[in-house]
Amino acid sequence: MLTGMRIVLTGGAGYIATHVAVELCAMGHDPILVDDLSNSCRTAVSRVETIVGRPLPFIELDVRDTEGLNAVFARHTPEAVIHFAGLKAVGESVAQPVRYYDTNINSTLSLLSAMASAGVRKLIFSSSATVYGDPEALPLTEESRVGVGITNPYGWTKFMIEQILRDTAQADPTWEISLLRYFNPVGAHESGLIGEDPTGIPNNLMPFVAQVATGRRDHVNVFGDDYDTADGTGVRDYIHVTDLACGHVAALEHLRPGVSTHNLGTGHGTSVLELIHAFEQACGAPIPYQVAPRRPGDLASLYCSPTRARADLGWVATKTVLDACRDSWRWQSGNPHGYADAQLA
Ligand code: UFG
Repeated sequence: MLTGMRIVLTGGAGYIATHVAVELCAMGHDPILVDDLSNSCRTAVSRVETIVGRPLPFIELDVRDTEGLNAVFARHTPEAVIHFAGLKAVGESVAQPVRYYDTNINSTLSLLSAMASAGVRKLIFSSSATVYGDPEALPLTEESRVGVGITNPYGWTKFMIEQILRDTAQADPTWEISLLRYFNPVGAHESGLIGEDPTGIPNNLMPFVAQVATGRRDHVNVFGDDYDTADGTGVRDYIHVTDLACGHVAALEHLRPGVSTHNLGTGHGTSVLELIHAFEQACGAPIPYQVAPRRPGDLASLYCSPTRARADLGWVATKTVLDACRDSWRWQSGNPHGYADAQLA
């Protein structure tokens, strides 16, 4: 088993990266967090430091600043990078396509340039189930068709970045690249110190439900109850963020020359109503909801086969949706306004 690797995490103060940083430290690795704080805050990094019990290097930097990245590589001499940085709101990407292509694609190109200059060729990329577009069949395997039916620029950036990384490894086979396709990350670290802290009105179901549970919003809008699913509401593969984080550690330990692709999900679908009911159980109170029209671009059902990740990485998700709801509730009830509570304190 590898230990003591220095690993740059771009987007290092974000929801998923902070949880990955905790699991990397637990396995004896040394994360170096790089983030421009455009959709995150320094408090999240301090909270990670509290959990792991030591200070971590943090550099405030936009990853498109290649000179700045070169300096980070020169100073910290990392052996690998996990690339989380990027914009991720589906609806916003439709309204602001150029901003999304600029941020997500150019940050990746800048990172590849800085890595090549520094001779660092181990890279894990935060990809997404969105690359599968409109699925032909479920469960989704890594062999499933990609690209057909992607409905928004955010999804296209993930698809394009995967292609850029495959081309990079094709041109120079010494690159070791892992594409991790996340399904629906939810939950929070069990300490309740770090979690998802969306700016403004949450786009995603779980943070919205959590904010209804604390009374910050009055009810959940259930986007459609007439899908072809058991209860008519949308079905997704919700994966606990700590399981997801452990998937990154496993991928790091199994990096090999070339490109590998893995789904990170549980393989189980959960409906919107099932998730709301699980959250009610976790917080011990009813969660008011109302059925609303379908959200444009949404699919009825999406879940993966996690078989390849189990076979190649020895990784499997172990936590349930109820575990995720309990951890999300601990985080949200302790920090009703997210990290802003700590900044005001
Ligand atoms: N939903 C509601 N009410 C809400 C929010 C969501 O009913 O307020 C429903 C959606 O219709 C869907 C389910 O809850 O059926 C999950 O929706 P999310 O917005 O939480 O997640 P999505 O599956 O739409 O999208 C997520 C990520 C994307 C990623 C995609 C990959 O947000 O970044 O998974 O499949 F691309």
